[in-house]
Amino acid sequence: MTTDYFENLLKKPSIFNDEQTLDLNFIPEELPHREKELTILSQLFLILITHPNSISRKILVTGRTGIGKTATVKLFGNMLIKAANKRDIEINYVHINCRKERTSYKVLIKLIHSMNKSFPKRGYSPQDLLEVLTDYLNTRDSHLLIVLDELSYLINKGADLVYALTRISDDLVNARQRISIIGIVRDISCINNLDVSTMSTLQRNILKFENYTKEQIFDIMKYRASISIKENAFSDEVIEMIAESVFKAGDIRYGLNLLWKASKFAESRNLKYVNSECVRFGNQDLVAFSTQDAIKYLSIQKLIFLLSIIKVLKKTQKSKTSISEILNLYEILCENLGWKPRSYSQLWNYLNEFEKEDIITLDVKSGDIKGRKAFIEIHDIPLTKFEDIIKVSLKSKGIRI
Ligand SMILES: Nc1ncnc2c1ncn2[C@@H]1O[C@H](COP(=O)(O)OP(=O)(O)O)[C@@H](O)[C@H]1O
Ligand SMILES: [Mg+2]
Repeated sequence: MTTDYFENLLKKPSIFNDEQTLDLNFIPEELPHREKELTILSQLFLILITHPNSISRKILVTGRTGIGKTATVKLFGNMLIKAANKRDIEINYVHINCRKERTSYKVLIKLIHSMNKSFPKRGYSPQDLLEVLTDYLNTRDSHLLIVLDELSYLINKGADLVYALTRISDDLVNARQRISIIGIVRDISCINNLDVSTMSTLQRNILKFENYTKEQIFDIMKYRASISIKENAFSDEVIEMIAESVFKAGDIRYGLNLLWKASKFAESRNLKYVNSECVRFGNQDLVAFSTQDAIKYLSIQKLIFLLSIIKVLKKTQKSKTSISEILNLYEILCENLGWKPRSYSQLWNYLNEFEKEDIITLDVKSGDIKGRKAFIEIHDIPLTKFEDIIKVSLKSKGIRI
């Protein structure tokens, strides 16, 4: 008789209640230790329900990566829509990831599509689109809450749009206020690149998300485990171990992935519960999500420069390196690929960008561009693993090294 692999797998008891609840985009019903932020958001936006379209709210949410900014704002958005629907008030909530929609045009199309899916994607100027948007809102007597998540990515190319959206009905006397904005940024300094009036509008309300403490991370991970994994399949001890790693990474996404990996490992070993060895196994195999995200969006040139840094650090076995140490290898890599190396000042820009993305740390020692000396370090990821990830990413872009 042939083995029925599906039946065998289906017969096997699972450790999970619901594996999908560990997905990074899943929004749980509760967010332990973000009650304060949810309260503040609700208080600020209550007026959209008590006095619809009388005021436009604009706020800025800040805080480092992986501490629940996106999840909190989305959960708040769901609550707002529910409360509005109950009272027959029309509010549209649109959550835009500016890392994905990097131009004003893309953002505007996304906003319009939230109200009319069949609106053509091409053929309009941004100014036309703004008019279409306000027309829609007026005709429907509707309010639009726009969340510009990862706003820093829009600021360089789309500053005009941010200006226009924050201003839309300000100049009209007695006009209905139909647009509210929540901007989410990691680092507040990025808004310095906006014009003064937009900046001062956004700076009026800033909601800073503080990092979680280790105890808070424990509570959060325990809650997330209780939704996704069977009750007897994990212990406080295991959650504590996970919380320890998450605290180091500073990113809850690391914990969700670690929990998933450890549980999968337990299942593959036919264990009835996740033990500390499973967590160790999971840890060994994980790379911080912030780094993975950052790499996903880097251009080929930047990836090659980053690869040069990693290779030099690996070869010299020192904890730090400098730009002049990297140049040689970088030029060789470029030459092998038949590419022109980037200029010194462009490479400096790359380094600054890598630092902003938390991929490297940069210790600048002074001097103008040519005389400037900087030490470059990589902390979070074993170099061999890092090198592999970059090669995979390059391969996906058609480059083999
Ligand atoms: N307090 C919390 N309770 C439960 N899950 C959380 C909490 N904070 C963050 N998470 C989860 O951690 C992940 C990262 O959160 P996210 O909102 O994406 O962070 P940020 O936007 O600050 O980078 C998400 O999958 C989110 O569901
Ligand atoms: Mg986020």
